Amino acid sequence: MSAPIAIIGTGIAGLSAAHALLDAGQEVRLFDKGHGSGGRMASKRSEAGDLDLGAQYFTARDRRFLDAIQKWRDAGWVEEWDPALYQYRDGALSPSPDEQPRWVGTPRMSAITRALLHDLPVTFSCRITEVFRGEQHWQLQDSEGQNHGPFSHVLIATPAPQAAALLSSAPKLAAAAASIAMEPTWAVALGFAEQLQTPVQGCFIQEGPLTWMASNRCKPGRSEHMDTWVLHASSSWSRQNIDKPKEEVIEHLYGAFAEMIGCAVPAPVFALAHRWLYARPLEPRQLGALNDADLGIYACGDWCLSGRVEGAWLSGLEAARRLLEHI
Ligand code: FAD
Ligand code: NAI
Repeated sequence: MSAPIAIIGTGIAGLSAAHALLDAGQEVRLFDKGHGSGGRMASKRSEAGDLDLGAQYFTARDRRFLDAIQKWRDAGWVEEWDPALYQYRDGALSPSPDEQPRWVGTPRMSAITRALLHDLPVTFSCRITEVFRGEQHWQLQDSEGQNHGPFSHVLIATPAPQAAALLSSAPKLAAAAASIAMEPTWAVALGFAEQLQTPVQGCFIQEGPLTWMASNRCKPGRSEHMDTWVLHASSSWSRQNIDKPKEEVIEHLYGAFAEMIGCAVPAPVFALAHRWLYARPLEPRQLGALNDADLGIYACGDWCLSGRVEGAWLSGLEAARRLLEHI
């Protein structure tokens, strides 16, 4: 029996690759520095309930992803979310309905990767710091100095800057990953004791510090006792305020929200801020995935394609396809 394949990262890209490899009869072992799966599709457990602080919803254009969503829907992991959509521009809020199907994990965004992970062999709270090749096999080293291996191949499914650091055995791939800039996003969640008197459930914002505000509780399957809202700051505001203390970020973004939402907004009874350092690639690419098939090392993630959940899932699939071609 040959050595298993190591996958670093249990976001949607790593799990998409894992399933494609498992379906082809390969054995995988997963690692993630987080306490659980999901990465930027994770949901934060809090006293206000489970909050989707990263990906808010996803859309699907590729037939393969549409088919996957159909299966996830049949299994009860996702539902369509059809919010009352608004936009804010030129100082005014206006309804902005459209026909775009949008999907969310139920009862929280992380339900999808939790279900995909199921009982796959995974080590959490394990930050991989080095990926190196012995005579025949790959080994991983974590931040505690512990070694993991041997592995036949390594598939790195992390944001580009973190992938670059792990690709030192393949300098060309490392340079390609290092050339991909990723932008930060400050996310704030607010909880109100009483429901806000607004018809808005989701809003695209084209000015000021925010780009998005949405009711978390109105998504299907949610059961928070508070009226919870998630706000996302723009890349530029997030970059300019990257080291601001969380309390100040909350205060500033709460102020912008209260001005835009178009109803009386009391002081929140709950608030938290989360900084995503590598939230989104600066621009979409058409890389599919990165690979050095002779060495047996692969990298994937949203940054190889559209910078969205769909792109991440497709990139994981593409990395697995390239790996299987060389087995
Ligand atoms: P990630 O989800 O980042 O997964 C990478 C994993 O690797 C993480 O779990 C991380 O812990 C782990 N990791 C990293 N380094 C190491 C290491 N050294 N050792 C071990 N583990 C490591 N997309 C949409 O389609 N719709 C949206 O509405 C949307 N909104 C978004 C809002 C925000 C605020 C953010 C941040 C993202 C949003 N996105 C959205 C983008 C979407 O979340 C991502 O495209 C997608 O989740 C990326 O998946 P991934 O598997 O490529 O990476
Ligand atoms: P989508 O088709 O719903 O939205 C794409 C973009 O089109 C929106 O950002 C918005 O600017 C515009 N738009 C769509 N519908 C609109 C409407 N009814 N009224 C006004 N404007 C509308 O979703 P898609 O293409 O799947 O994109 C995913 C979403 O995730 C986008 O909103 C994107 O900005 C967001 N995202 C956020 C990240 C972050 O770090 N904050 C990272 C990656 C994605």
